[in-house]
Amino acid sequence: MADSKRMKTALVTGANRGIGFEIACQLARAGIKVLAGVRTNERALTAREAFAKASVAVDPVVLDIADAAGMPSVLADIERLHGAIGILVNNAAILIDEPGGFDASFFDMTDETLQRTWTTNVLGPAVTMRTLVPGMIERGYGRVVNISSIAGQLSSMSSGFPAYRVSKTALNALTRIAAAEAPGDVKINACSPGWVRTDMGGPCAERTPAQGAETAVWLAQLPASGPTGGFFHDKKPIDW
Ligand SMILES: NC(=O)c1ccc[n+]([C@@H]2O[C@H](COP(=O)([O-])OP(=O)(O)OC[C@H]3O[C@@H](n4cnc5c(N)ncnc54)[C@H](OP(=O)(O)O)[C@@H]3O)[C@@H](O)[C@H]2O)c1
Repeated sequence: MADSKRMKTALVTGANRGIGFEIACQLARAGIKVLAGVRTNERALTAREAFAKASVAVDPVVLDIADAAGMPSVLADIERLHGAIGILVNNAAILIDEPGGFDASFFDMTDETLQRTWTTNVLGPAVTMRTLVPGMIERGYGRVVNISSIAGQLSSMSSGFPAYRVSKTALNALTRIAAAEAPGDVKINACSPGWVRTDMGGPCAERTPAQGAETAVWLAQLPASGPTGGFFHDKKPIDW
């Protein structure tokens, strides 16, 4: 079992800190070969030190999720160097602190905020999936986990952080669409980590990054009988 897990290389985007760092650590501790996507060479150096300090074997790879045009060739290089990616965790995201904070109004949202948020939170995962999932389909195995948020849930949609909400709803849609097109043992799901104490979640959040990582780590290792095209919180399906 450990050997077959080793053959499944995982890529976690935005893994130099926060929930992504924890997802990478937990997958590595589960015996999976893990690549930590980081934005720059500098981040790769500090991430390497942080993973060593956490006593996990995780290799940082430079992958700027906001560089849609450059990513396909960067991902091809990563697969050439490290092997085919069987598990993709789209974790990297931004939440631009708009005036008004959590009460920020849609009517005050700037085009720049919406465009920047869309580029990182939607276009980025769309490109990683479009680039990597065909290989998973060809090889007959793949797990994709899109880190979404209850902020993107249409069933309880409200105001506040409009650009971020729109981006997570769109990521949920991408999850459904890609899952509908991925046959066989390729499973594509989204999850909400809950409110987590990270730079994004802030110091008052109720969960540790390790707790916030748990559902994603479970989805990344689903058996062939597991679900696809779902949205999960605490390992249970939730409304879109
Ligand atoms: N924290 C919460 O309460 C919460 C709640 C719901 C959902 N989420 C979701 O959980 C995920 C992780 O959030 P978090 O709280 O861990 O956030 P975080 O602490 O702000 O960390 C975000 C990570 O994404 C990376 N990133 C951002 N833009 C990138 C880019 N262009 N290329 C590569 N990496 C990039 C950051 O790298 P840099 O260090 O280079 O900036 C960082 O590693 C996100 O998808 C977020 O939306 C979080």
